[in-house]
Amino acid sequence: MMPIGLGDPIVLLDLKKGRRKNIIVEDKVIKIKGFGVFNPKDFTGKEYGDIVYLSNKPVLLQPPSVVECIRGLKRKAQIILPKDSGLIALYANIGPGSIVVEGGIGSGGLTIVLANFVRPTGKVISYDINEEFFKIAYYNLRVAGLHEYVDMKLKDIKEGIDESNVDAVVLDIPEPWDVIEHARNALKPFGHFVAYVPTIEQARKTYLELKNQGFYNLEIVELLMRNILVKPLGTRPDNKVIGHTGYIIAGRKLRD
Ligand SMILES: C[S@@+](CC[C@H](N)C(=O)[O-])C[C@H]1O[C@@H](n2cnc3c(N)ncnc32)[C@H](O)[C@@H]1O
Repeated sequence: MMPIGLGDPIVLLDLKKGRRKNIIVEDKVIKIKGFGVFNPKDFTGKEYGDIVYLSNKPVLLQPPSVVECIRGLKRKAQIILPKDSGLIALYANIGPGSIVVEGGIGSGGLTIVLANFVRPTGKVISYDINEEFFKIAYYNLRVAGLHEYVDMKLKDIKEGIDESNVDAVVLDIPEPWDVIEHARNALKPFGHFVAYVPTIEQARKTYLELKNQGFYNLEIVELLMRNILVKPLGTRPDNKVIGHTGYIIAGRKLRD
């Protein structure tokens, strides 16, 4: 195992509370809720798998993995959780080499998953109207080691998609129905459209507009997930279940 050096990514895991945080090792004192004040430079020379003490709590220095990165994201807006982003990537039929247009990068929670699937030869082109999100998302993508597979565009995606012949358009914005015509123009024949919205009214409006624009294989799905706890007295689902996150609306473009 190589020693950790400056510029390396770490997903800190608080071994007592299970809290995670993504950092990049720089010579700069930082303050992170739950982890206290520290200089990541002090981790240089240590190895992944070592335990350090921050605010008197044991913290594991982990190398990034996609799910751990999403759990430790620096975030500003609501992020898409792995249970949903995995299914979104599947419905969008994304694989190595895919060219994907994403609307609404936010903190990059979904972008990390998309970038992981399109590598090593594909690209995610992410639109956002708020420049502040690009900084956060770029940081999160750097920790995940996936930044080179993402291009960021400061543009309202409702005003149009510059790319053409793309494999998939994936949206996490409040009004995805306003982008469907642009998506149809940008997608290659039989390309995939996927949107993610929190309310059923938004899901319905998106579905109906997809139908109106000639998309087929239309589906609205919601995914519920339970974690199973393994305890000395038995194995059972966790009492805490995430009730609702969002609806996934998927459709496919026909030939032009
Ligand atoms: C909920 S966040 C996306 C979260 C992201 N999927 C994640 O997992 O971290 C929605 C993002 O969409 C952006 N947005 C909203 N309307 C937009 C538009 N018309 N064009 C581009 N971006 C837009 C917002 O600025 C915000 O960053």
